[in-house]
Amino acid sequence: MDRLQGKVAVVTAGASGMGLAMARRFAAEGMKVVIADIDDEAIDASVADLHGAGADAVGLHTDVSDAAAVGALKDLTYERYGAAHVVCSHAGAGGGGRISAPPVDLAGWHRAFDVCVFGMLNLLNEFLPGLLAQDDGHVVTTSSRQGLIADAGLGAYSPAKAAVVTATEMLSAELRAAGSKVGVSVLCPGGVRTKTLPSPDQLAVSVDDRRRQIMAQRYAEAAEPDEVAELVLSAIREKRLYVLTHAETIPWMQARFDAIKSDLSALGAIR
Ligand SMILES: NC(=O)c1ccc[n+]([C@@H]2O[C@H](COP(=O)([O-])OP(=O)(O)OC[C@H]3O[C@@H](n4cnc5c(N)ncnc54)[C@H](O)[C@@H]3O)[C@@H](O)[C@H]2O)c1
Repeated sequence: MDRLQGKVAVVTAGASGMGLAMARRFAAEGMKVVIADIDDEAIDASVADLHGAGADAVGLHTDVSDAAAVGALKDLTYERYGAAHVVCSHAGAGGGGRISAPPVDLAGWHRAFDVCVFGMLNLLNEFLPGLLAQDDGHVVTTSSRQGLIADAGLGAYSPAKAAVVTATEMLSAELRAAGSKVGVSVLCPGGVRTKTLPSPDQLAVSVDDRRRQIMAQRYAEAAEPDEVAELVLSAIREKRLYVLTHAETIPWMQARFDAIKSDLSALGAIR
């Protein structure tokens, strides 16, 4: 998408962190912005913040896992602005505990998939038809670098974020095959300084020293939400599929690929 001025952006989880940074960045481009979130106070504060910057913005309480709520978000967007162009499926959830410590917390796993995966599908169901009909727009989904690798101990988070990556890749391939001009990007951040990533002084006293050290280093290497919003804007402009924030993700992915290749070499392939 080249021209953003006057167009409409919808951002889920838009009242905090990277979502809010994206909303601000889109508004700075002259876009109208719809913020969807479950934190009403944060919605009010972020809409006021955008109005203060001279932007046309509105917010709506929307749990993305609730299809009817996402339908109401589409209705509000179209009633107020008549269209949507940039649709960011940014809301996510983790949970579910360690997979090696049964019983697996099924409710936690359901919640992570309901928000990350079904939330994204709810958004596509409501907004993609309009984007396709106008043959103009961009879908941004938010995964994580945890969707590209598999760290231990993250419960349903990595599997749900991996599903976001592959689903977005499929969406991109299908739209390209159909000759659509609608762009697609998947954001796979490493650590970013938001509510999701506690600073060392916010860690609970029960956190042991080793974990505290790891978390402190992760925080030191983390990106700022504004930097991520800038990358997302470039990806929309340049129609880039993958948006990574940390180059260290690549060797981690390479290590996984090498392990797959090594087992294939050891076992041999059928064909
Ligand atoms: N911060 C990081 O280090 C990091 C790294 C990788 C991926 N992510 C992903 O970024 C996304 C958002 O996190 P953040 O760090 O930008 O911001 P954040 O943690 O500061 O805020 C998250 C926002 O999401 C909202 N939210 C939670 N559940 C929701 C739901 N069901 N429907 C709508 N809104 C909901 C919350 O109310 C909150 O305002 C998530 O998908 C997360 O997995 C974050």
